[in-house]
Amino acid sequence: MRRICVIGVGYVGLTTGTCFADLGNQVICVDIIQEKIAKLNRGEMPIYEPGLEELVTRNVAAKRLTFTTDYATGLRDAEFIFIAVATPAGDDGEAELKYVRMATETIAQTLTHYAVIVNKSTVPVGTGDSVEQILTRHGKRVGADFDVVSNPEFLREGSAVYDFMQPDRVVLGAANREAAEQVAQLYLPLRCAIMVTDLRTAEMIKYASNAFLATRISFINEIANICEKLGADVKEVAAGMGMDKRIGKDFLDAGIGYGGSCFPKDVQALAYMAEVNGSHPALLRAVMDINRDQRARVIAKLRAALGNLRGKIIGVWGLAFKPNTDDIRDAPALDIIHLLQAEGARVRAYDPVAINNARQQLTNVEFCADAYATAAGADAVVLVTHWNEFKQLDMARVAASMKSNVLIDGRNIYEPARMKQLGFKYSGMGRGNHSES
Ligand SMILES: NC(=O)c1ccc[n+]([C@@H]2O[C@H](COP(=O)([O-])OP(=O)(O)OC[C@H]3O[C@@H](n4cnc5c(N)ncnc54)[C@H](O)[C@@H]3O)[C@@H](O)[C@H]2O)c1
Repeated sequence: MRRICVIGVGYVGLTTGTCFADLGNQVICVDIIQEKIAKLNRGEMPIYEPGLEELVTRNVAAKRLTFTTDYATGLRDAEFIFIAVATPAGDDGEAELKYVRMATETIAQTLTHYAVIVNKSTVPVGTGDSVEQILTRHGKRVGADFDVVSNPEFLREGSAVYDFMQPDRVVLGAANREAAEQVAQLYLPLRCAIMVTDLRTAEMIKYASNAFLATRISFINEIANICEKLGADVKEVAAGMGMDKRIGKDFLDAGIGYGGSCFPKDVQALAYMAEVNGSHPALLRAVMDINRDQRARVIAKLRAALGNLRGKIIGVWGLAFKPNTDDIRDAPALDIIHLLQAEGARVRAYDPVAINNARQQLTNVEFCADAYATAAGADAVVLVTHWNEFKQLDMARVAASMKSNVLIDGRNIYEPARMKQLGFKYSGMGRGNHSES
């Protein structure tokens, strides 16, 4: 049993703290948002993440997991301090480090003993060194000392608990290898590959991994767009490519592109880092351009099917940036809805869990109780997020209830021929002759 403090109870921090508690450690989580901590202390979840609530409840009951807004309480006995605060995009695409800085400064002002400070936030290469400088500059208290370890997180929202407990690898970067070995001990029960490297390399592994996955998505979207011109079906093209072991089948789903709280800002931040350091990230720029254009393609498809969109009723299925999360940060649905509103369309939307978050960012959208209500009387429906419940709808009922039967399948989850049989004017993304725009 080790004593761990986690700073930030977002998707990463709450998952990390809870999973470490479940592995038998004593964990205390600190956040500056009182309401989040109050909710957790009342037994309520501040975020939606499958399987996490049960795990939080179990570990709180076992007294291995507690929550506070007070750094002094959080740090009092901590041997390890994990920083898991947000690093959103800044105005020029750089990673905004104010939360990391704030957390580090407060640690420096509060810590009174030796601890290993582990950075889990995704931070630009070189941040580990600045964390060390901040800690030193803000004055070590008597008896306080520290080592800094970079431990980038690779979990995916929607399967965060599974990914934490069954990682493909754990990456640890440190100037002091002994400190990295200490952190490695925490992960031993997971029996996974652990890679120890220097701080900067660990930080770069995270950016390079996300940029590579984003590149695969933009690559297949470019292929999808070529497929549309040439009458090939990108779903089968991807399946055929994926059978090649050198390529693999994951992250080859053509659609309206990536979104969320990581890929967009991480690719941008890597491109920014490259540029300010005199490198020319041409590939990263193309990845971002293709991704942005995919969202506009939906509008082009709707225009092709319906003509002018002014006054047309468009139903949007899915608001979260991907299934199994309530996260709408940089969700394609938001851009698509804004584009539709700019064309004068009347927008309705439904999502199984993200409506509350979406309400705070969208105006003039009618939020519906379910997918059927969203489609009833609509001129078109756009499938944006491939939640399982959208795959199992009674599509004959949907078709019968619509005004014009236009269906834009932004994630290629429906069978084009079957949709046409049901009377839809179907358009997928790169589905050969079934994706007119
Ligand atoms: N969300 C993901 O899927 C994911 C995956 C891998 C890595 N990451 C990275 O992990 C980091 C955290 O991401 P997230 O999605 O969990 O963010 P989040 O926005 O969900 O949570 C961050 C939390 O930190 C808190 N916070 C901010 N400043 C603080 C401070 N000074 N002291 C204490 N708490 C503070 C916020 O109140 C918030 O609760 C980011 O760098 C992100 O890029 C995220």
